[in-house]
Amino acid sequence: MQILDGKIVSQAVKDAIKIKTEAAKSAGKKTPHLAAILVGSNGASETYVASKVKSCEEVGFKSSLIRLADTITEAELITAIEELNADLDVDGILVQLPLPKQISEAKIIGLIHPDKDVDGFHPMSIGKMVQGLPTFIPATPYGILLMLEHYKIDTKGKHAVVIGRSNIVGRPISILLSRNAYPGNCTVTVCHSHTHNLKEICLQADIIVAALGIPGFLTADMVKENAVVVDVGITRVKDDTKKSGFAIKGDVDFANVAPKCSYITPVPGGVGLMTIAALLMNTFNACEQK
Ligand SMILES: NC(=O)c1ccc[n+]([C@@H]2O[C@H](COP(=O)([O-])OP(=O)(O)OC[C@H]3O[C@@H](n4cnc5c(N)ncnc54)[C@H](OP(=O)(O)O)[C@@H]3O)[C@@H](O)[C@H]2O)c1
Repeated sequence: MQILDGKIVSQAVKDAIKIKTEAAKSAGKKTPHLAAILVGSNGASETYVASKVKSCEEVGFKSSLIRLADTITEAELITAIEELNADLDVDGILVQLPLPKQISEAKIIGLIHPDKDVDGFHPMSIGKMVQGLPTFIPATPYGILLMLEHYKIDTKGKHAVVIGRSNIVGRPISILLSRNAYPGNCTVTVCHSHTHNLKEICLQADIIVAALGIPGFLTADMVKENAVVVDVGITRVKDDTKKSGFAIKGDVDFANVAPKCSYITPVPGGVGLMTIAALLMNTFNACEQK
């Protein structure tokens, strides 16, 4: 069994971006600039945005963090997005989800200019992705592809089972794994909360992507020998032994599943780090494409 190490791969991606950014700056090009909007003070969202901003600094990008109260109206958030759309210095816009319930996430995502849609959630980006056209690929699925590529994992003709069909993870990774490319060319089964015989389906999988948000859901009896397991789940679970008071748990029962796998991602230290690396890659490309 080999660990798919998000620390190693994300660092390699960040090092490459840093070199390209320095070269671009030396050639007189502009510094990539990511603007993040954080609405409210959700603990997990605060942590995610803080690591995204920190990663921008690491690779030499400029970043801006716009903090808005969770009582903000939809109209006020729309104004903030429009200002960033119009700001020539801003290359990428990120709206940290979830948003408060008075605001339509779909509407907000649809208002980000597609050229600055570095999270890849805009319907135009998703449509292009489905058609195999160049575009911003959603950061978490893109991070998974970079991870599979780094470890040269054979995907052609393999049966991939994706558990979860969200717009940000399950649905896009299922499309990407089925495209005629590398990584891709898998036969993909998408599972969700209404799937019957999930265990039997998982047992047929060469590759499993678990993205449902239930800690430890994928157990050893659901995984065949030598499967590749990608754990996307991130759930905060109360843990009094930790200084923070919680531990981060994935969707896979890692201790018992790992011995059966050929490759597996840990949580933390797996897909989460790759998501940030992929976001930086999208931001660099957004700047280059200007
Ligand atoms: N590593 C990262 O960077 C990263 C990025 C994004 C998300 N995440 C994590 O990934 C997990 C999933 O996130 P998400 O945004 O995709 O979640 P989501 O929008 O809540 O979607 C969860 C999906 O799982 C399915 N599901 C729920 N219970 C199930 C069950 N018992 N059996 C089979 N399928 C089931 C749901 O089915 P229905 O469609 O039928 O409801 C849904 O499609 C969360 O833990 C999240 O924190 C991590």
